[in-house]
Amino acid sequence: ARLVVLVSGSGTNLQALLDAAADEGYGARIVAVGADRDGIEGLARAERAGVPAFVERLGDHPSRDEWDRALAARIAEHKPDLVVCAGFMKIIGEPVLSAFPVLNTHPALLPSFPGAHGVRDALAYGVRVTGCTVMLADAGVDTGPIIAQEAVRVYDGDDEQTLHERIKAVERGLLVDTVGRMAREGWTVTGRTVRLGRAAG
Ligand code: GRF
Repeated sequence: ARLVVLVSGSGTNLQALLDAAADEGYGARIVAVGADRDGIEGLARAERAGVPAFVERLGDHPSRDEWDRALAARIAEHKPDLVVCAGFMKIIGEPVLSAFPVLNTHPALLPSFPGAHGVRDALAYGVRVTGCTVMLADAGVDTGPIIAQEAVRVYDGDDEQTLHERIKAVERGLLVDTVGRMAREGWTVTGRTVRLGRAAG
């Protein structure tokens, strides 16, 4: 399967996918990396891996809709089977969602703590268990059908950084496993239920 991975930051989830895709048996390869900003480690990771990369900055476009369309066009150049948002800090618009299946990962147990500060919000709430979620993206903010989740304990004395690092250690594995299964086995979506594996019958 052909993957386009979208990033906005350090790209450790991207790196986990790059490392996994190096194994022939994984069943997916990253054909391009897209970003909404320059100068991020995620783009350097793509370069080191010899994967083509592109940047589409919202500020370069007269409207959000034109950015959405430009992003969809850049992604389409690489003919992906699946788009993976791995720390991409923009809401994916209809031009992308209508053209490709989009996977997203979030560092909290949705529907708890959606949005850009899921780790901070969980810590502030005082939960003893949080975690990470891999889901299909829809037009909302972290509201798409959930595919996989894993719990992560909150330790006394955790701050946002220590907790997020502990979550990311789990999240990388969850994302790599989920993407690999979707690439090898396919998936079907019925309402809010995503089933991995070829559609029965
Ligand atoms: C991940 O935890 C992702 O879920 C969240 O931001 C983090 C990105 O980390 N949206 P990285 O860029 O993959 O290191």
